[in-house]
Amino acid sequence: MAGPDQAARATLRRFVNGFQISQAIHVAATLGIADLLADGARPIDELARETETDPEALYRLLRALAAADVFSEEEGRRFALTELGEGLRSDAPGSLAGWAAYIAGPASWQAWGALLHSVRTGENAFRHVHGADAWSWRTERPAESAIFDRAMMTTTRTMNRALVDSYDFGRFGTVVDVGGGNGALLAALLAAYPTLRGVLFDLPHVVAGADDVLRGAGVADRCRVVEGSFFDGGIPEGGDAYVLKAIVHDWEDPESLAILRACRGAMADGAVLLLIERVLGPPNEDLVTKLIDLNMLVHPGGRERTLEEYDSLLEVGGFELVGATSTPAGISVIEAAPSA
Ligand SMILES: C[S@@+](CC[C@H](N)C(=O)[O-])C[C@H]1O[C@@H](n2cnc3c(N)ncnc32)[C@H](O)[C@@H]1O
Repeated sequence: MAGPDQAARATLRRFVNGFQISQAIHVAATLGIADLLADGARPIDELARETETDPEALYRLLRALAAADVFSEEEGRRFALTELGEGLRSDAPGSLAGWAAYIAGPASWQAWGALLHSVRTGENAFRHVHGADAWSWRTERPAESAIFDRAMMTTTRTMNRALVDSYDFGRFGTVVDVGGGNGALLAALLAAYPTLRGVLFDLPHVVAGADDVLRGAGVADRCRVVEGSFFDGGIPEGGDAYVLKAIVHDWEDPESLAILRACRGAMADGAVLLLIERVLGPPNEDLVTKLIDLNMLVHPGGRERTLEEYDSLLEVGGFELVGATSTPAGISVIEAAPSA
């Protein structure tokens, strides 16, 4: 009888142990190691001193990550950046530093640790572990909110170019970004289209961080910032396009419908709704979106959807699907118009 396929076993083992590399990268990102190596290789004692860590434990962390090609280990316990590690610099284009700091941080780690609970019960793991939904929990914890908002901002920045290149936002006069975080998408849209105006809408503690982002992009004079909740009727009126980027996937259908209806209530008949989301791929494909879907189950308590599912949701929420434009960033712009 043939023995097990060793290559298949090795792949499976790599998957089973994947949490180790995720946590190791999280620690290196939280300590800012990549930024400390921006000007070249440095000895472990210096890195340990600057990060206030134990030199031997830090060495063991970095040599493991060097074996994974995230850093490179040089003569005399010195470490340097590799191409992979460059992506952990906070100033790198498309930096993953903010995401790595968030996704394997204690709050997220503990929620993912309760995935089995979610699978057994269908319940949201974050709420099970932390006793509150992710949004209320972060509202009470400014430091955690800052980590999450940075992760969102830097992730959004990796997608902005692809969005602007793939979809013509320039045909609108005013874009309202509903749940727009600290303005990373609006800043890019307003920078790309000099006559476009924007309205940023999100929870008060989130838009509090928007000024720096909008000013940094030189677009603050064309953007109004409105704080509120999309469950409390606060969505601003008067936009030509209402963007919901990575919002509907945060919620199950009842809350998603409430958000869609709140947008519809704020929109004039000729305005356009733009859901910017990943579209769930067919069976046996699209691992990235299917893992994000699990992240939605664990974290906010939402789900990724197929285009057909978005179509049905939109219809019930008072909209007609106009079309979906895919982008090289893996997200799509799903355009909908208010139903007649
Ligand atoms: C996944 S993040 C997406 C942020 C941004 N659209 C982006 O793509 O970078 C979800 C956003 O929804 C916001 N949010 C959650 N609950 C909200 C509510 N009740 N009213 C308004 N915004 C809310 C969060 O603060 C967060 O900025």
